[in-house]
Amino acid sequence: MLIVFHLLQLKSHVPLTLEELEGLKISCYDRDKVKTNTKCRVIASVNALSLVKKEEENSMPLRKDFLWGGATAANQCEGGFQEGGRGLANVDVMPYGKDRFPVGMGKLKMYECDDKHFYPGHEAIDMYHRYKEDIALFAEMGFKVYRLSIAWSRIFPNGDEMRPNEAGLKFYDDLFDECLNHGIEPLVTICHFDVPMHLVETIGGWRSREMVNHYVRYCEAIFTRYKDKVKYWLTFNEINIILHLPFMGAGIFIEEGENAEQVKYTAIHHELVASALATKLGHKINPNFQIGCMLAAGNTYPHTCHPNDVWLSMNYDRYNYFFVDVQSRGEYPSYALKRLEREGIVVPFAEGDKELLKAHTVDFISFSYYSSRLISADPEVNNKTDGNAFATLKNPYLEASEWGWQIDPLGLRITLNALYDRYQKPLFIVENGLGAVDTPDENDYVEDDYRITYLKEHIKAMINAVELDGVDLLGYTSWGCIDLISASTGEMKKRYGFIYVDKDNEGNGTLKRTRKKSFYWYKKVIESNGKDLG
Ligand code: BG6
Repeated sequence: MLIVFHLLQLKSHVPLTLEELEGLKISCYDRDKVKTNTKCRVIASVNALSLVKKEEENSMPLRKDFLWGGATAANQCEGGFQEGGRGLANVDVMPYGKDRFPVGMGKLKMYECDDKHFYPGHEAIDMYHRYKEDIALFAEMGFKVYRLSIAWSRIFPNGDEMRPNEAGLKFYDDLFDECLNHGIEPLVTICHFDVPMHLVETIGGWRSREMVNHYVRYCEAIFTRYKDKVKYWLTFNEINIILHLPFMGAGIFIEEGENAEQVKYTAIHHELVASALATKLGHKINPNFQIGCMLAAGNTYPHTCHPNDVWLSMNYDRYNYFFVDVQSRGEYPSYALKRLEREGIVVPFAEGDKELLKAHTVDFISFSYYSSRLISADPEVNNKTDGNAFATLKNPYLEASEWGWQIDPLGLRITLNALYDRYQKPLFIVENGLGAVDTPDENDYVEDDYRITYLKEHIKAMINAVELDGVDLLGYTSWGCIDLISASTGEMKKRYGFIYVDKDNEGNGTLKRTRKKSFYWYKKVIESNGKDLG
């Protein structure tokens, strides 16, 4: 105010350069020290400076400590499935090929590996042995955060032991140290689809309440061991995947004649209780822990403006919101209780469950976003897209990836807004990306402009949600920052990475890592905190 008051008495409006103005800062407080000929240009300069500052603020919408990075999951990148005392998990018996979907859906029972199938997760991209090289590459891109998951059966090989496996704990200790030495914050998914096979065979996976104790013991082991190395935790990856792929997501095989919905909602309740207990325990072990839930998100559009379509799309979204409603608001929403009651599904509430869920809600909400969804109440409208666990109609306004996943950047802004409106808690985009076929040149270099375009458009939409809509966003980790095994198809060919890995669908290749064009692009995005999108 003082400066402006004095400067108002000046005569000319020729602006000073920013450097000149910087030099004047101190002397401006003392009117007599400001030379008359310099004063003449100051008013305009002050205006110019405030304009520049305003522009800077506007073009720097993301928080300074925005967590840019990438995401992977143990079962899709680690390999080393029998090393360091690791036990067999549900994700290890999921083969590549036509049997993968039926196994993942809990319709085809294959509890052991055989010679007829190829199991891509057994070696994956061998990150178990190569994590130092991979983390160095992430650091070169400037990652602030690396989202990874712990393989449950490395820590508790059978799942029901009373003491953790030291070799498994040591592996992640070293891996976290490697991240921290590079200034990368680890973001840890406690359970990314994996369930020790012993628990699948003996108690039927998450259909049993006993799983809650095993999971909490596992959480206690990792929370205690890594309490000074890890701050951000996610209790379950894509917790809603259980509705579509119950074996892959929760180790559940649906026996013949069983009421599949009853089995699923029983398991879901167990997971929700386990998630609340983990949140309670984590906050006790380290009050600074930030513990989040994780949803496979993407809003559902109505096919037409017919109220039946609108009503259906609202309800389809509620199937998914249901999980976060419990994890973030702390109680079963009335619409879900009513529906479950109508369908004759009993939620196995035990004494104290309701109070527990209410008292231990998550700190933030994370989600994956690949696509929006489309639904119609008209059974005649049934042109579905391919290859997506979340069955959806083809949206005529959208293009699709080679795997039929529809590309909708604005849908990301819609999803961010919908989640923020509903929960008013910080959000975290922990998966987003394009699965595409890459064609490397003779040096294994890939010019993946299509991936850059996809990511650029999604990041723009994300920035709009923050800048224009005021969504509170903690960070963005693009999925499969290094090529890895596809969860749905088991392919290597469906690549998401900034780093090419020489390996094919049948398991051939040198596993050599090569930077793609998008590697250099993402590095600039991070460096400029999202200002330089190329
Ligand atoms: C999410 C999962 O469903 O989508 C990841 O959390 C998965 O594990 C990712 O890899 C992409 O799906 P896909 O089937 O292309 O690997």
